[in-house]
Amino acid sequence: MAGGKKRLVVGVTGATGIAYAARLLEMLKGSGVESHLVVSRAADITRTQETGMSADELRGLADVNHAPGNIAAPLASGSFRTIGMVIIPCSMKTLAEVATGMGESLVSRAADVTLKERRRLVLVTRETPLNLIHLRNMTAATEAGAIIFPPVPALYSAPKTIDDMITQTAGRVLDLFDIEVSGLRRWGEEIPAPGRQD
Ligand SMILES: Cc1cc2nc3c(=O)[nH]c(=O)nc-3n(C[C@H](O)[C@H](O)[C@H](O)COP(=O)(O)O)c2cc1C
Repeated sequence: MAGGKKRLVVGVTGATGIAYAARLLEMLKGSGVESHLVVSRAADITRTQETGMSADELRGLADVNHAPGNIAAPLASGSFRTIGMVIIPCSMKTLAEVATGMGESLVSRAADVTLKERRRLVLVTRETPLNLIHLRNMTAATEAGAIIFPPVPALYSAPKTIDDMITQTAGRVLDLFDIEVSGLRRWGEEIPAPGRQD
């Protein structure tokens, strides 16, 4: 980013999968990109359900924290320069807010700003099965410029643990922002493609 820090906004919402957010924040450390974290109230509930992490431990993984209700935070304005935003995991409720341009919380406002500034917005949407409303909202968000990235494990990378799957997903999300990460298993590199002649 010309003349300034590279910043990535990281929204965390109340879909299952807080571990994806924690891993992504860990991978951002040392990448040269400053992480700006917003955790929704519902995500604090899933954090306690799914992990042994305290609120401070999760927030401590980010460079800068913002309260979810603070719609006067810097990231609520397009004049605050970022390389984009990821919402990981992204609940169907937050997806609906993004798809309809609602900016009631800092997560959905920052996402709306990201789209209006034509910056990259990646939504790690997590729900299954999907109803027509979810699918239509994903289409609307995609039409507005967002990338829908469900956290579906890639079995070609031969994950041995859930941790391996989480790392692979978080790393592939960071690929979309051209952020260099180590520890990813890539087809044709760490994973030789069978039958390839080169
Ligand atoms: C343990 C738990 C798991 C949940 N998992 C999901 C999920 O995978 N996807 C989803 O869309 N909502 C899920 N929810 C519901 C959301 O937390 C709820 O819709 C909430 O209002 C989302 O708010 P937020 O988007 O502001 O974080 C879950 C709730 C709980 C308590």
